[in-house]
Amino acid sequence: MDYDAIILGAGGAGLMAAATAGQAGARVLVIDHADRPGKKILISGGGRCNFTNTGTEAECFLSENPHFAKSALSRYTQWDFLALVEDHKIAWHEKTLGQLFCDGSARQIVAMLLAECEKGGVDIRLNTPAGEIGHADGLYTVAGARAPVLVVATGGPSIPKMGATGIAYDIARRFGVNVVTPRPALVPLTLPEAEMPFRAISGVACPAIATAGGATFEEAALFTHKGLSGPAILQVSSYWSPGQPVSLNVLPNAAHLLRDARRRMPRAHLKAALTEHLPTRLADALAARIGLATELGNVSDAEVDRVAMELTALTFHPSGTEGYAKAEVTAGGIDTGALSSKTMEVRAVPGLYAVGEAVDVTGWLGGYNFQWAWASGVACGQAIAARTQI
Ligand code: FDA
Repeated sequence: MDYDAIILGAGGAGLMAAATAGQAGARVLVIDHADRPGKKILISGGGRCNFTNTGTEAECFLSENPHFAKSALSRYTQWDFLALVEDHKIAWHEKTLGQLFCDGSARQIVAMLLAECEKGGVDIRLNTPAGEIGHADGLYTVAGARAPVLVVATGGPSIPKMGATGIAYDIARRFGVNVVTPRPALVPLTLPEAEMPFRAISGVACPAIATAGGATFEEAALFTHKGLSGPAILQVSSYWSPGQPVSLNVLPNAAHLLRDARRRMPRAHLKAALTEHLPTRLADALAARIGLATELGNVSDAEVDRVAMELTALTFHPSGTEGYAKAEVTAGGIDTGALSSKTMEVRAVPGLYAVGEAVDVTGWLGGYNFQWAWASGVACGQAIAARTQI
């Protein structure tokens, strides 16, 4: 059967591209090897899907070309997606930091996308691996279907047990398109043995300012039995490179608080002062690491400043990340230098498009990655519609 476009991947980006093109009159086929569409949407946001962020702007994304995402993001904004959510009568709430979630279930977002696809007469074929992709005489052939347009919407290899693959990169390379080295992002970091005393406090979380690779985020940090996690760490993990340190400020006004504690309770030890502001197990671990043996009343100003400095810049040297098995997204991907930022088409290969996480555009934690999936999908869908009408 022939179509105007074959979209490989029934995730957020692929379904959005399909619905947009289909509703504009294009005959669209979506192919996916999974047994149901939008699997990552279903597990996202703890089952409630953090579907966008009110603060979305290009600065919230990593890419070799930080300007690339601007066009699509400005033409289909967080407010456009929110309007669609409201049209479908999906109740939502803002949790924190502009993050919008369904009140009910992520299933509502998948149902909404499928309803939009149905409105556009989109065919969706599940349990269908991409297999061999043919390309001859301006037509792409996938799983027996032919079309002048092939959209690569297969995401990245994060969470392989959910069916994620790196097929997008294989397709890109086959058509001569460069791939920016993929790496796990929004991912927990592992600590080496030497820094493992913090393993003992696995499960402890605290607000922190995390810094790595030149990026700083203020959110919760979590100590795990393997190392560091929590939103602040996941955020900086996208900027971290092997060999770089990660620093955590767990008590921004430490100098003031310690002087105050020294005045109020001169017979107490550092651990007691820290316990007033931090979880007890973390206070224990920090006091042990800092190793201040004497009572607070005997601690000099210089010593207070040294301890405060340590608490505001706890430095860790991660041995690595927990890898694709735990990475919420994949950074890197199909080189934006090969794509039109307006249409998402590979400029040198007519009819070949790439959208969503497959592309070298990676958002912060907090709904940004879905907003990129929606926006890049719409840009591509509109381009398919435009070429179909000619
Ligand atoms: P996506 O990966 O969603 O879809 C790709 C599709 O291609 C899949 O259906 C897959 O089966 C299919 N496919 C892959 N290989 C194939 C092959 N060889 N043949 C055929 N089909 C193939 N983001 C956010 O903004 N808010 C959030 O709350 C969360 N939460 C979250 C939680 C967890 C646990 C994860 C892992 C990720 C998130 N994310 C997130 C990130 C978000 O899920 C991700 O960025 C988008 O789903 C990317 O959408 P895409 O459509 O590009 O790829």
